[in-house]
Amino acid sequence: MQLISLSKLAILGLAGLSVAHPGAHEPSAMSHAAKRSFLNNAKRSLDQCAGHLERRGINDRIQARREAAYEMYRKQHLAARDYNPSVNTSHHSTLQVTSQTSEEGLFSKNPTCILSPEGEIGPFWVRGELVRSNVRDGEAGIPIVLDGQFIDIETCEPIQDLYWDVWNCNTTGVYSGVQDSSNGNGDDDSNLDKTFLRGLQKTDAEGVAQFQTIFPGHYGGRATHVHVVAHLNATQLPNNTVTGGHVSHIGQLFFDQDLVYQVEATSPYNTNKVSITTNADDHVVQDETEDSASDPFFEYALFGDSVEDGLFAWITMGVNVSASYDTSYAATLTSAGGIKNSDSASPGGM
Ligand SMILES: *[C@@H]1O[C@H](CO)[C@@H](O)[C@H](O)[C@H]1NC(C)=O
Ligand SMILES: *[C@@H]1O[C@H](CO)[C@@H](O)[C@H](O)[C@H]1NC(C)=O
Ligand SMILES: *[C@@H]1O[C@H](CO)[C@@H](O)[C@H](O)[C@H]1NC(C)=O
Ligand SMILES: *[C@@H]1O[C@H](CO)[C@@H](O)[C@H](O)[C@H]1NC(C)=O
Ligand SMILES: *[C@@H]1O[C@H](CO)[C@@H](O)[C@H](O)[C@H]1NC(C)=O
Repeated sequence: MQLISLSKLAILGLAGLSVAHPGAHEPSAMSHAAKRSFLNNAKRSLDQCAGHLERRGINDRIQARREAAYEMYRKQHLAARDYNPSVNTSHHSTLQVTSQTSEEGLFSKNPTCILSPEGEIGPFWVRGELVRSNVRDGEAGIPIVLDGQFIDIETCEPIQDLYWDVWNCNTTGVYSGVQDSSNGNGDDDSNLDKTFLRGLQKTDAEGVAQFQTIFPGHYGGRATHVHVVAHLNATQLPNNTVTGGHVSHIGQLFFDQDLVYQVEATSPYNTNKVSITTNADDHVVQDETEDSASDPFFEYALFGDSVEDGLFAWITMGVNVSASYDTSYAATLTSAGGIKNSDSASPGGM
């Protein structure tokens, strides 16, 4: 991927993201003209944000915070190892995060994605998941910290109190919380009660939230990805779930292909014999990066020398808070466990 400047920003989750999973229902797509008009408007509005974010010190703060978070998690993961203050990132090959990094905040070198809710939610969203930062539930795999910042594309301010809902499949390509023939063993109803690699986090005053999870595996027909839903104006209940509000974004995020190959070479990812769909062959990546306007890829830095030591991945996303979208879901997590959506003739149906 090329280094992206603020004038060439990421437009994420655009229309026509069509089939996210085999058998997924395809949402109606925006016309090409409407999509182009959205892209142009969205680019203009984030261009306008650049100066604002710089003046408000938001770029400096997010950079400092990501460095601190990286160092904290790195030390946790490599407690017994020597600390090397210089790390390499690969998404943008010229970018290095060190304790001296200061001149151009990560944000300005960061892919900033304007999120349009026309994105594909896919058939496997589960409603009612838990608000928690560590979503691993003991699942094997390479540890990854996902750090996301959400910016309001109309005011250019960080969005506080947004609930970032995240989910991805496990090392062998299976999602928790769903019973479906296209998701592992379709006869295994115990999977409905599982919550691994799913959860929500509320953004703070800087619009930031983090998850500790594992690097996703893959399944047939799709590049390795992480799903995102952004909830606004939701209320957190005493049992750490959220209710109400509206969804202002649905989308998917991706990883550099060389990183995916490194991960897939490790165990237990390498026990998955389903062939890998590359980013270049993934239709969602293609749609999201149309006209080179978009960069829906995580930046990342390894905690150690090898990918197996874990990694820190970050992305900044722009959201139109006025937008509100319908979401389809496969199941709902309740106090009695996971309950299939009875309207599941088309599990991805909108
Ligand atoms: C990482 O950075 C160090 C120095 O900062 C450099 O020597 C090394 O070659 C880099 N490694 C990779 C894989 O780019
Ligand atoms: C992935 O999840 C499925 C469903 O829970 C499980 O059967 C499978 O063993 C998991 N993969 C690994 C490597 O644990
Ligand atoms: C909904 O959330 C947005 C973004 O955080 C906020 O600006 C707005 O005031 C909220 N509206 C209500 C009714 O709480
Ligand atoms: C945000 O969404 C609202 C409602 O759909 C729309 O009127 C407005 O133009 C959008 N703003 C931007 C910057 O795209
Ligand atoms: C959380 O509480 C709500 C409201 O009582 C309930 O509907 C839901 O099933 C509960 N969820 C879990 C996971 O306990």
